[in-house]
Amino acid sequence: MALLEVSNLSVQFETPDGTVTAVNGLSFELERGQTVGIVGESGSGKSQTVLAMMGLLASNGHASGQALFDGQDLLSLSPKALNSIRGNRVAMIFQDPMTSLNPYLTVERQMTEVLELHKGMTRAQARVRAVQALDAVKIPEAARRLGMYPHEFSGGMRQRVMIAMALLCEPDVLIADEPTTALDVTVQAQIIALLRELQREHGTAIVMITHDLGVVAGLCDQVMVLYGGRVMEQGSAESIFYQPTHPYTVGLLGALPRIEQDGTTLLAIPGAPPNMAHLPPGCPFSERCTWAEPRCGSERPALTAVPQQAGVLRACHRSPNQIALLAEGKTP
Ligand SMILES: Nc1ncnc2c1ncn2[C@@H]1O[C@H](COP(=O)(O)OP(=O)(O)OP(=O)(O)O)[C@@H](O)[C@H]1O
Ligand SMILES: [Mg+2]
Repeated sequence: MALLEVSNLSVQFETPDGTVTAVNGLSFELERGQTVGIVGESGSGKSQTVLAMMGLLASNGHASGQALFDGQDLLSLSPKALNSIRGNRVAMIFQDPMTSLNPYLTVERQMTEVLELHKGMTRAQARVRAVQALDAVKIPEAARRLGMYPHEFSGGMRQRVMIAMALLCEPDVLIADEPTTALDVTVQAQIIALLRELQREHGTAIVMITHDLGVVAGLCDQVMVLYGGRVMEQGSAESIFYQPTHPYTVGLLGALPRIEQDGTTLLAIPGAPPNMAHLPPGCPFSERCTWAEPRCGSERPALTAVPQQAGVLRACHRSPNQIALLAEGKTP
């Protein structure tokens, strides 16, 4: 049994516009020491997927399906049981460090509190461990900085503090929601290298949310590509990168920033993400898909295995061969 087994996870919100299904029937498995990437444009359901697993949905939200962590279903645990897992065996890094760091408490106070609560350490023991944790994420002069408040750290350092916090209890699973988006490219690369190193040392499994395919390439074993709350394609990072079988994945890869002779160009997918309250009855991507056929807007394609590519699942009416040809600019 995998460390984390998510099956048929859905998230619905009650809104004045009606029920919005933000995540629709997501399934994946994650082994110890492995990384799964969740990729997609803004509003595709990435954050709600992991917030559901952590029991942190907004009050108008509801999750269904299963998220088995070490055999226990996170979605049906009591708040008390979930609290003892959260921040301890399953930890989360948020996009904005200030949402998980308390601005009014020193970093020392925040770190030692977690260790006292989850590990039953004394304040002195917790302090030693907290310094080690800051050292591990390469914060210089950790012992002195421990007494500082979050706002006294630079953006990159604050992100490191948050990673140190998340890793304090040596979690089995680390969930990282766009942990590097707000940072400049050099710091981003350092943080990714750091996560890889920590993963190698402790065998931590990582769920990495990102819209940056460069991050996926550097870190992920498996990738799920989401659009409109649904999986468009999922499989090994290698297959997603080198043999994408879904028009949306092809589009995302095309939107990777490339350095051209005349500078940096960004090829974006034309159009805007869909209105989740009014999705088309067929494929959610059909309205923006260059290669859509008439049935794509009305018939929803099922998520099915690609026989030629082990472990790859895709939801598209057109065949993988057709997509490969179209992606090369040929007519199938
Ligand atoms: N409390 C809520 N009530 C209604 N709809 C919500 C609520 N929270 C989120 N949603 C909807 O759920 C959908 C998915 O949101 P989610 O936060 O998962 O997007 P995301 O993929 O993380 O995007 P981003 O890259 O911008 O962070 C969005 O369309 C959003 O409007
Ligand atoms: Mg998000």
